[in-house]
Amino acid sequence: MTGRSCLTVVLAAGEGTRMRSALPKVLHPVAGRTLLAHVLAAAPAGPGTSLAVVVGPGQEAAVADEARRVRPDAMTFVQNERLGTAHAVLAAREAIAPGADDLVIAFGDTPLISADTFARMRAPLHAGASLVVLGFHAADPTGYGRLIVDDGRLTAIREQAEISAEERRITLCNAGLMAFDGRTALQIIEKIGNANSKGEYYLTDAVGIVRESGLKATVIETGEDEVRGINTKAQLAEAEQVMQARLRKAALDAGVTMTGPETVFLAADTSFGKDVTIEPYVVIGPGVTIADGAVIHSFSHLIQSSIGSKAQVGPYARLRPGTSLGEGAKIGNFVETKAAVLEAGVKVNHLTYVGDAHVGARANIGAGTVTCNYDGFNKSRTEIGEGAFIGSNSSLVAPVKIGNGAYVGAGSVVTRNVPDDALAVGRSQQTAREGWAKRFREMKALARKPKTG
Ligand code: UD1
Ligand code: CA
Repeated sequence: MTGRSCLTVVLAAGEGTRMRSALPKVLHPVAGRTLLAHVLAAAPAGPGTSLAVVVGPGQEAAVADEARRVRPDAMTFVQNERLGTAHAVLAAREAIAPGADDLVIAFGDTPLISADTFARMRAPLHAGASLVVLGFHAADPTGYGRLIVDDGRLTAIREQAEISAEERRITLCNAGLMAFDGRTALQIIEKIGNANSKGEYYLTDAVGIVRESGLKATVIETGEDEVRGINTKAQLAEAEQVMQARLRKAALDAGVTMTGPETVFLAADTSFGKDVTIEPYVVIGPGVTIADGAVIHSFSHLIQSSIGSKAQVGPYARLRPGTSLGEGAKIGNFVETKAAVLEAGVKVNHLTYVGDAHVGARANIGAGTVTCNYDGFNKSRTEIGEGAFIGSNSSLVAPVKIGNGAYVGAGSVVTRNVPDDALAVGRSQQTAREGWAKRFREMKALARKPKTG
């Protein structure tokens, strides 16, 4: 494989009407990552590779942004009219014309495709094939292009709309991934016409043209699970199941203990240290890292969080984006955290909200504590010092700082900073102002008005 340059063109201009969604089809997630990102992550990468994504009109912003987020080197092209897969490829003509050694065409709606399959597709090109098609045996071939193989040689692909009664029985189908020898690719694709029942430019007609030119077209096979195309929400759910099964197996193979793996949902980017335990019924969203020896107890929900070694989470905990737990930290039941750094040995065992906060090592936060981070206008931060003790049912009204070793008595409402090693008890500010609620609503309405001038 070494030394051959490769351009991958990902077709993502489809309307995706059958998803019945305002979100472009390829931006729907599977295991916390968009369909497009899955395909781009599997596509050839590194020196000598380049990537182009063909997007539909009106989707430029969102889809192209996602492409560049995953692959900053991605070129994007708009297919202004949706005239078929060959027409879509030619939208990227500018990227194809310089002639990489290999040209790979992939669909943006097949998220289960693997990097290994991309590599397998390119290999026959090096042995002289002009075109390689990825095939699979479909349990129900309806709707797929059928591979016509004659005497062991691929001679044509027949689209569903053009198929004869006899060909209808063929189960070997076109998965959609194709690899062309870059030297002849453009000439071949430009020859494709639209004289068919749909008046579309079918990329699959490339096979017939390759044969007529006396060149070689060949098939590489794979399993159906890898090439499931997503057109509907039901297919999205099926792909999620296949992906979850893969991720669970990979986690188990990496040494994660799961007694009910079928009830645990992982994200494509979840990373685990050694001897991690995940109990049944845990949902892990994108951006979660779990260090050695950590335990995630049942019914916990984690997103964009980092869990330190030997930390314990849950049962029934919700870790929102920006949570970081130090070594041996403990988050108990009905605790919610957000944008919160909890240093080593911190304990938050029950019924607590910790948001926009930093909690020093070994601090103990009692049941029912709330960091009141939002005053209706702004978010403010709470700092809790090392070894501090926050008594149950306390409200820490941010911005506020609780010193190292400070002690807050149960039921306190803390509105002023508490110095190191000090004791704070009761309501530190108690006033009642008539008409305040009305004024608050007026101020809020004013704050919402767009700024002028
Ligand atoms: C296509 C194949 C079929 C194959 C099947 C596998 C063709 C003509 N047919 O059929 O042989 O069995 O996929 O799933 O290639 N797209 C564009 N612009 C267009 C048309 C399509 O970007 O003008 C993109 C779509 O977004 C999608 C991909 O190309 O990612 C495939 O298009 P789709 O209409 O889904 O093709 P199928 O009819 O499924
Ligand atoms: Ca399709």
